[in-house]
Amino acid sequence: MDLDTRNTLYDQAKKWIMEAGAIIKDQIGAPLEITTKSNPNDLVTTMDKNTEYFFVNRIKREFPNHLIISEEGYGDDLKDLEGTVWIIDPIDGTMNFVHQKRNFAISVGIYHDGIGEIGFIYDVMDDTLYSAKRGGGAYKNDFRLPTLPADRKITESIIGMNHYWLCENRLVDETVMQHFIRTIRGTRLYGSAALELAYVAEGIIDGYITMSLAPWDIAAGLIILDEAGGISTNAWGADINLLSTNSIVACNPSIQSQIIDDHLQKGRK
Ligand code: IPD
Ligand code: CA
Ligand code: CA
Ligand code: CA
Repeated sequence: MDLDTRNTLYDQAKKWIMEAGAIIKDQIGAPLEITTKSNPNDLVTTMDKNTEYFFVNRIKREFPNHLIISEEGYGDDLKDLEGTVWIIDPIDGTMNFVHQKRNFAISVGIYHDGIGEIGFIYDVMDDTLYSAKRGGGAYKNDFRLPTLPADRKITESIIGMNHYWLCENRLVDETVMQHFIRTIRGTRLYGSAALELAYVAEGIIDGYITMSLAPWDIAAGLIILDEAGGISTNAWGADINLLSTNSIVACNPSIQSQIIDDHLQKGRK
């Protein structure tokens, strides 16, 4: 993608994100229609669907050749990442949106032939926009995020992760994860994968590990994190596939091998 196209797309996507965010904020107190999807805790609201439709409708009108991968069903069914593909999570952190009315984000990643070009993660209620253009650095609002420090120690690291790692699970032995938690400085759980990736990019947590995320949870975050000097793979150190679900280890590069080689791989089931 050439520079002009990237800049034009960035400006357009940013405008739509701010508009969509304003609508959500405006209606934050309105009664919600909440339904469940795969299980009673897998929530979706009319606001998730309306926000996704807001983007899909505009993208299809303005850029008829572009393709869309998105959570709530208005996108395309893609077999590859050829061309320009928008990967959209209209509300990442729906449980937070429903229960807390904050700590949720709009996540939009734009890829061209599989390469991450533009990423936006908008914390709607905090009015904070994380963004990146390929080769242009990562930003928190107008502030350019510094490259992550190269000397982070695992023992001084804070890692975003959820409780499932400590429950019996199919991926990694729980006792190995208990040892991991005792090794690091602390854990955090924010309930929005997109925001957790943005926080790794910002350096306020040093890593984020999760067992299974969809492409829309991570598409923008991977680009923003990469521009901040972070690294992301699946739990075993392999490349992430944006056409399927993945386990994720996204972190400051200086602690990657301690997370993966010294812990996850050792407990691999
Ligand atoms: C969820 C959030 C959550 C993560 C879940 C995701 P949603 O996305 O990112 O933090 O743990 O795996 O599904 O459903 O709120 O868009
Ligand atoms: Ca969801
Ligand atoms: Ca999500
Ligand atoms: Ca969502």
